[in-house]
Formats: sequence, structure tokens, C-alpha cells
Amino acid sequence: MLPHRSHFPHRHSVHSHWKRWFFILMLLLLYLFFLVSHVSGQHGAPWHWMHMHRTLVSWTSVTVGTPPAAETKMLALGKEIYRNNCTVCHGDTGKGDGRWANYLTPRPRNFTRGIFRFKSTPSSTLPTDKDLFRTVSAGVNGTAMPSWQFVLPEKERWAVASYLKTLSKDFAEEASGKPIVLAPEPDITPERVARGEQIFRKNCVECHGPEGYGDGPSAWNMEDSFGDPIEPRNFHRVAEFKRGHPLGDIALAVATGSDGTPMSSFSPLGKEAIWNVAISVIYLAENEEEGSEPGGCCSMGMGMRM
Ligand code: HEC
Ligand code: HEC
Repeated sequence: MLPHRSHFPHRHSVHSHWKRWFFILMLLLLYLFFLVSHVSGQHGAPWHWMHMHRTLVSWTSVTVGTPPAAETKMLALGKEIYRNNCTVCHGDTGKGDGRWANYLTPRPRNFTRGIFRFKSTPSSTLPTDKDLFRTVSAGVNGTAMPSWQFVLPEKERWAVASYLKTLSKDFAEEASGKPIVLAPEPDITPERVARGEQIFRKNCVECHGPEGYGDGPSAWNMEDSFGDPIEPRNFHRVAEFKRGHPLGDIALAVATGSDGTPMSSFSPLGKEAIWNVAISVIYLAENEEEGSEPGGCCSMGMGMRM
């Protein structure tokens, strides 16, 4: 009788049991994780969830200092920054055909045609240097375009912004547009909400739908000027507002429109009307109606996020 010997196998078998159960538990947890993410995916929830837990940026809130003088050295630096950080998506010559481009929805912008969506200038005019600096700094919410303010120092962001202008001949041929000034931002009052709603009913429902779910009669099979599919924004997914969802960002998006997309500029309505309709967008976004989202899940307007 050697008790300590008979203990050995016993202890060993408890250990392997424990290991086996641990393994099974892990598998179960993994399975549950996939199940939950799949099931909630059916209701469009994980996109909300993922976006809400990410740093959302606001285009108009980017701190913009004075641009450094555009010397040749600056352009050389910009070219280097572009090569190291942007070609994977936007391509060597800025055609939006980088190595990763085919895996991304929406696709990276093609810079060669001088069509820019995010700017302070009127529709069909070129952005200012500050506008490009803002976009590079903020990135584009809900897309693969990273927020470079968390990665590149200010000087390098200015440099790459000025390098972008060499990728399209338009910048050599035309001056930038004159920025639209909407400030000061008004207070949100019930009167403004009511007036904004009227403007919304008249001008926006066709694409954004009566409750702002992006499901208006003209919303289907839309394309941008590069032939890529595009959807009117669903106002109930505020994290997908590309510039951000503070009132100032929304008002500017309505004033300038998004060049190269069906979202046109509403500047002719006047400054007051623009603020009011932007307020109505926020109001709609906050009025969630359970189950009224068309088709349920996933516009998948999301690429990778760095
Ligand atoms: C991981 C891919 C990726 C990388 C890397 C990337 N971008 Fe982008 N970028 C995109 C995508 C996707 C869009 C399009 C967003 C949309 O459709 O609204 C975009 C849009 C832009 C725009 C918006 C143009 C407009 O319409 O106003 C600018 C400017 C831009 N990128 C600059 C840069 C610069 C500069 C760099 C490098 C410092 C860079 N991007 C790196 C994916 C990327
Ligand atoms: C002809 C269709 C159409 C009409 C009309 C239209 N939009 Fe849009 N809207 C779009 C599309 C398409 C986009 C998506 C653009 C993009 O992804 O770059 C958009 C995007 C937006 C955005 C999101 C901007 C961002 O930063 O992502 C807001 C806000 C918006 N529209 C408000 C309005 C308001 C307010 C009106 C009415 C005054 C209006 N739109 C009328 C098609 C339309």
C-alpha cells in the first residue's frame, strides 16, 4: 500500500477534468459571444453599440491654428506622410485605389477629380486648406478614414493636407470657395423645432424619410459621382453622421451639401431655415420609434477603423 502513489493518478485526473471543463466553458462562452453578436446584428443594435463606444469626432470642433507657409519643404514632408499613411487606402496617385480600397465600404476618396464632401465652402467649389486640415484631423465617422489628430502632429497634418492639393489639377486652376458662415448657433426652442419640421417635410422627406430613417421614396439605388452606392443618412444612427452630430456639424452639412452625392446644398433656404431644419434633425434623431427601422439590420456603412 502506497497511499501517496494512488493519490497521484487521482490528483492528475481531477486536474485534467478541470482542464476539460475549462475548455468546454471557454467554447460555450465563445459560442454565446457569436450568438449574441449575430442575433443583435439582426436588429441593427451592434452598430449602435460599436459606434457609441468609439471616440466620435466633430468636424467643426477640430482646433485649427494658422497654417504654416506652404514651402517646398512642407510639400516634401506632406508627400512622405502621404506615402506612409494614406496610400494603403487612397492609392499612390490619390485615385482611391490603394491596396485596401476594395475591402472598404464606403471606398476611400479619389482625390484626382477635386470633388470633396467635407468643407465649409459652397457646393461645387474647392475646400479651403483649413477644411482639408479639419477632415484629415477629424477623420470620417462611421467609415475607415481614421482621425489623424490622434496619430500625426499638427505640422504633419498641415503638410499632408497641402500635399493632397497636388493630387488634383483643379487646385492649380481654381481658388478655394468662400467659407459659409452660419454662426452664431441659436438656442433650441419649440418654435424652431416646429419651423424646422415644416422645412424638413418639404425638402428632406423624399430621401431621409418621414421620420428620418433614411427610407424616403428616392432613397433606393442611389450612387455617388464615382458610381459607388450611397444611402441618405439614417438620423437615428447619430454615430454615422460623417462630420459628427453636434448641431453645428449638421447645420454645415445642410448648408454645403455633400459634393458628388445626391445630398445637395440647402444654402438658398437661408441661414435661419438651415439652423431650424438642423434642429429638427436632432429632434428626429432623439425620437426613437421602436421597430420602425426599415429592413432591420445593418447598412454596413462601416469599414475598418484604425
Ligand atoms: C484605412 C483607410 C484609409 C486611410 C489609411 C486613409 N483614409 Fe482617407 N478616407 C478613407 C475613406 C474610406 C474615406 C471616404 C469616407 C466617405 O466616403 O465619406 C476617406 C476620405 C478622406 C477624405 C475626405 C475627402 C472629402 O470628400 O472631403 C480626405 C481629405 C482623406 N480621406 C484624407 C486622408 C489622408 C490625408 C490620409 C493619410 C494621412 C488618409 N485619408 C488615410 C479611408 C482612409
Ligand atoms: C436627394 C436626396 C436627399 C435630400 C433631398 C436630402 N438629403 Fe441629406 N443626405 C442624402 C445623402 C445621400 C446623404 C449621405 C451623404 C454621404 O454619405 O456623404 C445625406 C446626408 C445628410 C446628413 C448627414 C451629414 C453627415 O455628416 O453625415 C444630414 C444631416 C442631412 N443629409 C440632412 C438633410 C436635410 C436636413 C435635408 C433637407 C433640408 C436633406 N438632407 C435632404 C440625401 C438627401
